[in-house]
Amino acid sequence: MPETINREEEKPPHQRLKRYWKVAVLANIKDDDHPKPEGVPPDAFADFDHIETIDLLRAALETDGHSTTFIQADRDLPFALREVQPDICFNIAEGLGGDAREAQVPALLEMLGIPYTGSRVLANGISLDKTLTKRIWRDRGLPVAPFQEFTTGEEPLRPELKFPLFVKPAREGTGMGVDMNAIVKNENELRERAVYIINTYQQPALVETFLPGREFTVGILGRADAKLYSRHPDWYEKDGFHRFPVLELDSTRSVTPWVYSQEAKSKDVGADGAPGYFCPADIEPELEKKLKNFALRAHQLLYTLDVSRTDIRLDEEGNPRVMEINTLPGLTPDYSDLCLQAAAEGIRYEDLVLDILYLGASRWGMLEPREYVNDTPKKK
Ligand SMILES: Nc1ncnc2c1ncn2[C@@H]1O[C@H](COP(=O)(O)OP(=O)(O)O)[C@@H](O)[C@H]1O
Ligand SMILES: [Mg+2]
Repeated sequence: MPETINREEEKPPHQRLKRYWKVAVLANIKDDDHPKPEGVPPDAFADFDHIETIDLLRAALETDGHSTTFIQADRDLPFALREVQPDICFNIAEGLGGDAREAQVPALLEMLGIPYTGSRVLANGISLDKTLTKRIWRDRGLPVAPFQEFTTGEEPLRPELKFPLFVKPAREGTGMGVDMNAIVKNENELRERAVYIINTYQQPALVETFLPGREFTVGILGRADAKLYSRHPDWYEKDGFHRFPVLELDSTRSVTPWVYSQEAKSKDVGADGAPGYFCPADIEPELEKKLKNFALRAHQLLYTLDVSRTDIRLDEEGNPRVMEINTLPGLTPDYSDLCLQAAAEGIRYEDLVLDILYLGASRWGMLEPREYVNDTPKKK
């Protein structure tokens, strides 16, 4: 057991932890030096993290006194966990293969009884599958574009799907399988692209109406009882949630005009061919409210926990349609959408990361609820 450190006593009560923890950051790392294994798509592993991101994440966690280690989320993970014996894992692992890779690490940690941050197995599994996700949202009245899943490429196209259509892998992220050929204008192009996605990515192709309007992404942080565990209770609204300022992604002049593709996403902010990032987005308050409401409902309907980022695009009438939710949003400072949103309102990277840690830890009984309710000290 890690020992309690006396410095605790020097802190104001609302920042006091029971003790400092051994935090293991779990992630899959990009290995640009080694050739990709055979038979994987050209953009395989695009959603993996660079080691520099892990170093920054660890440094952020250490600013509040914790010790950290990094464990690669590969097949040796169960053995490494047994050796390291972390108090809690900070999970950003994308997982390896199968139909719900983002749920693999949470499932393992649940089985081993090790606390971890963020969403649990179901939310991470379902959100990776964009078709299942959209069926749930549609069932509960969230606006989504008309869609159909293709598993062979030969399915008859349903009449409500009118060209142009958009074709993407049902279970990837970071724009994998998304480039200019994702927009298909006729039956031939549709069949060709669907078969390409099914064969290359070894999974169904999700076919949707093409949404020609502006694109936004909205981050959510918190939970009904977030104020009790956060170091920054003032961030959270009465319902316990923080809505980050809306980020607009303007892809019109990017390498892939109108499409926030894998290639566009891989460019640094401000670089040639990168999309424009505008945060807070220049939009009417009414649209802003709608986008934030949809993002929160999208989050809650999937049982997402503590943090997420939801992508929304306007249809030809200018109405928002929810595209997908990221239950493990990227956390690279000055690069990942969520970090840009936090920075736009002056939230420091360290504070963002630590709140994700404490929100997670509180669900595992690792923190006492702070003695503040609604920002005023509780009467003794
Ligand atoms: N139905 C659609 N109409 C227009 N553009 C789309 C549509 N679906 C996805 N896109 C574009 O492709 C990008 C990636 O799709 P998305 O569903 O967010 O998957 P991911 O980010 O997980 O790769 C979006 O950010 C958007 O620019
Ligand atoms: Mg997306």
